[in-house]
Amino acid sequence: MRGHFITVATPNNDPEKIGHLKGHMMMGMAVGVFLIVRLVLRWFSTKPEPASSAMPWADKLARLMHILFYILIFLQVGAGMAMSIGANLPDIVFNGNGSLPTDFWSLPTRGMHSAIALVLAGMICLHAGAALYHQFVLKDGLLARMWFGKRN
Ligand code: HEM
Ligand code: HEM
Repeated sequence: MRGHFITVATPNNDPEKIGHLKGHMMMGMAVGVFLIVRLVLRWFSTKPEPASSAMPWADKLARLMHILFYILIFLQVGAGMAMSIGANLPDIVFNGNGSLPTDFWSLPTRGMHSAIALVLAGMICLHAGAALYHQFVLKDGLLARMWFGKRN
């Protein structure tokens, strides 16, 4: 399960690592903020009718996947923050106090963060593939639903 992604390609004793972690932590927390903004906007906006692929099982799966995206992204940000607090990263990375541990694998949230990342990566491939299927095989203009305006 270790080291599938570029964030871990730099070992913790590399002087560049703190900068990498800083960038990753700020981006990750920004994703958390956008997730909340998105959910609030979604709550207050008019939604189009659910899209249909004429395959009831696929429509059901799509609804489930979209909810699972929100849950997993929320958990991923939570696991990242818990891991960084567990390793005292806010103080090390943002205040320059103390030094990094050899790695983060002794923290249970490290394995969780890695596993969720893999599941999300798979889901994103499936999701983008499904969107392209709607757009170019079913030709139902699904991608337009990503933009503003009321489309039924
Ligand atoms: C949705 C948001 C996030 C995504 C998609 C994400 C993704 C990842 C990925 C793919 C890895 C490497 C996993 C591996 O190869 O095993 C990683 C590592 C890590 N992430 Fe995140 N992350 C997110 C948010 C956060 C946040 C908010 C924090 C902390 C504030 C954080 C802290 C870390 C740390 C400390 C590591 C370990 C790096 C290492 O072991 O060298 N992440 N993250
Ligand atoms: C190539 C990139 C992507 C394309 C073309 C794409 C396309 C779309 C489209 C067309 C919809 C609307 C479906 C509908 O109206 O029923 C949608 C919804 C959604 N997408 Fe994506 N997407 C992409 C990447 C992502 C990524 C990276 C994530 C998450 C990590 C994501 C998460 C979601 C979620 C959660 C919804 C449901 C929105 C809601 O109903 O609240 N998408 N996507």
